[in-house]
Amino acid sequence: MEKNKYKESIYGAFLPELEKARDSLSAHITEIRAEMTNQLGLDPVEHYLTRIKGEESMREKCVRKNLPVTTESALGRIKDAIGVRVVCAFVDDVYAIRDRLKNSGKYEIIEEKDYIRHAKPNGYRSYHMIIKIDRRFFAEIQLRTISMDTWAALEHHLKYKKDIGGDTELIIQELKRCADELASTDLSMQTIRDMIFENT
Ligand code: GTP
Ligand code: MG
Repeated sequence: MEKNKYKESIYGAFLPELEKARDSLSAHITEIRAEMTNQLGLDPVEHYLTRIKGEESMREKCVRKNLPVTTESALGRIKDAIGVRVVCAFVDDVYAIRDRLKNSGKYEIIEEKDYIRHAKPNGYRSYHMIIKIDRRFFAEIQLRTISMDTWAALEHHLKYKKDIGGDTELIIQELKRCADELASTDLSMQTIRDMIFENT
């Protein structure tokens, strides 16, 4: 019989409540999406994912951050036990959803990072928010466009590929160039949408 099966979760007895908090955030995003679809006649969300950080990955993060591997660390010190990723077709929708989440008054906003206006040096773009749900559970919300999501997925693959062949410097440079080109395409797409909507 598997011993691990009976190991306690790092989230301890809070796991069901953590899942409830995730579900309520999920339901809220679904609500925002429906409202915007009604108003715009267009679903602003291409897709969205939600997850509770896996046991192994949470334990590993505690160790990496020099924290004791405890429920206290997992829920009180690390702020992405709950994770949500909202992928939009257009940049404006990213900010519109950000505004609705903020203005709902439902959450304490702990931190915001605008990696869209201020891309990371490697080219990574996304809008990150850390919120607190029910004054108890932290959640990390990542908002981005389809292009940003595509780039991040590719870069993630490459980052974890141990033995990158070829000229690493050149690869990094090329990835950055792709990120910038995608960002410029995102702006063009936004402009095209604005032109279409102006004339209807
Ligand atoms: P943590 O302590 O790990 O939360 O680090 P941080 O707060 O400095 O992280 P940040 O808010 O910058 O990023 C958190 C998450 O964003 C990561 O877990 C990834 O999902 C995503 N992310 C950030 N930077 C990159 C990047 O360069 N490439 C990709 N693919 N994803 C990134
Ligand atoms: Mg973080």
